[in-house]
Amino acid sequence: MQKTLILAIAALIGTVSSRYSTGQCTTPALQDAFDATKYTGAWFQVAKDRASPFENGNCEQARYSINADGTLKVFNTQFSNETQSIENATGTAWCNGPQCSVKFFWFSPSAEYRVMYPDYENIALVYACNDLFLAKADFVWILSREQNPAQEYVDKALSILAERVPEFTTDNLSWTYQGGACQYFSGPW
Ligand SMILES: *[C@@H]1O[C@H](CO)[C@@H](O)[C@H](O)[C@H]1NC(C)=O
Ligand SMILES: *[C@@H]1O[C@H](CO)[C@@H](O)[C@H](O)[C@H]1NC(C)=O
Ligand SMILES: *[C@@H]1O[C@H](CO)[C@@H](O)[C@H](O)[C@H]1NC(C)=O
Repeated sequence: MQKTLILAIAALIGTVSSRYSTGQCTTPALQDAFDATKYTGAWFQVAKDRASPFENGNCEQARYSINADGTLKVFNTQFSNETQSIENATGTAWCNGPQCSVKFFWFSPSAEYRVMYPDYENIALVYACNDLFLAKADFVWILSREQNPAQEYVDKALSILAERVPEFTTDNLSWTYQGGACQYFSGPW
């Protein structure tokens, strides 16, 4: 049941790299002195897991802003090839430094969201791991300020992932389509 809920959230987030594996979650080093204000604004999703069952979206973006109460507003979008429309999901994140938890609907449990590395201007690496009964589910997001980031920034994110979560196999990362057929959200959010 918990697994189903986590998958449902992952689907809604729409920016998922996930895998299930045995063992318990580790606590990799996160960004020191995380500056949520500098993290706000729009990011393009760069990669997600090929094995993810949520391959229905393209052109995913995440937008963050600070709510009046100090929480982080999360506004995610993706472009659907089938409906040729931009779909969205809005959530709220509570952060204690780089360790956040994010919730998309009142009835959904909160999912964790750890900011492992942002340089704020180019690339960010986000990791989440949820302990399940006898297993764990972890997720990776690579986010970029540019639609098509320079390879050096992607390599930076991958090297941090390899260093801090060595057991996470990136063989099956798939690169999110962010090409000319994308339509991006441009309204107020
Ligand atoms: C959506 O369309 C683009 C452009 O034709 C294509 O490159 C992309 O792979 C498609 N995405 C999916 C999930 O089918
Ligand atoms: C990668 O994908 C292959 C084929 O879908 C699968 O057999 C394998 O378990 C995946 N590896 C990981 C680390 O998820
Ligand atoms: C998000 O999608 C819903 C449903 O399509 C739509 O009603 C809403 O206006 C969208 N949100 C924004 C900020 O565009």
